[in-house]
This record gives sequence, structure tokens and C-alpha cells, in this order.
Amino acid sequence: MSATSLPAMPMPPIPDLPSSTFRLTKEHFLVAVPVAVVAAVGGFLVSQYLNRRSCKKGQVNTCINKDSPKVVHSFDMEDIATKAVYCRCWKSKKFPYCDGSHTKHNEETGDNVGPLIIKKKDA
Ligand code: FES
Repeated sequence: MSATSLPAMPMPPIPDLPSSTFRLTKEHFLVAVPVAVVAAVGGFLVSQYLNRRSCKKGQVNTCINKDSPKVVHSFDMEDIATKAVYCRCWKSKKFPYCDGSHTKHNEETGDNVGPLIIKKKDA
């Protein structure tokens, strides 16, 4: 069936508009465009501000012992052989020990975190 064979649809009546009906004019655009630009820039700035605030409140520990109210580890100095390397980036799969995951984290984020290294003095 082609479009030319469709039956004519009855059109609803178009009411007469009163003379006070709103019509867009050039003056409306002269006001609306700057207002829209200011609103868009303002919205962008507010979203940037809120994102920065939420980053400051973000959690450092994203996956280690999350059901514990506080993650604490304790070691006796006598148990450290000659050297121990502890994670400070909270990304290690062997936490609390460093597994080198800080390197990937630093590359992805531009951060500069690294491990805590404890070693016995040379005798
Ligand atoms: S893996 Fe976290 S400091 Fe090395």
C-alpha cells in the first residue's frame, strides 16, 4: 500500500488563538540564549565543585576487610627477618604487605604512593 492510497485523516479543528498568546520573538532569543549559557556554565561549575568535595570525603580503603570497623595490623619487631615491605596504597592483594599494586595505581591516577619499608640496621 503506498502513501498516496491512504484515506484522508480528519484534522482536528485549530482554535483561534487570542491576541495575548505567547509568541517567540527575536527579543525573547536575545534574553533566552545568554540565560541558557549562564545556566549551563553555572551547572558545570557546581558539578565540578561537588565532585571535588566528594573526592575529599572518599574512602582510601575500597576493598580490604570492609566489614571491620577498623583495619589494624600489629607485628613484633623480632618477627621481621631483615626487611618487611608494607602497603600504604590499600591496593595490595597481599595486604598489609606490598605486592607492587601501587605502581599501577600511580600510573592510572597520577598519585605517588609507595610502601613502608622496615629493615634491620646493618651490623
Ligand atoms: S601495593 Fe600498596 S604500597 Fe605497594
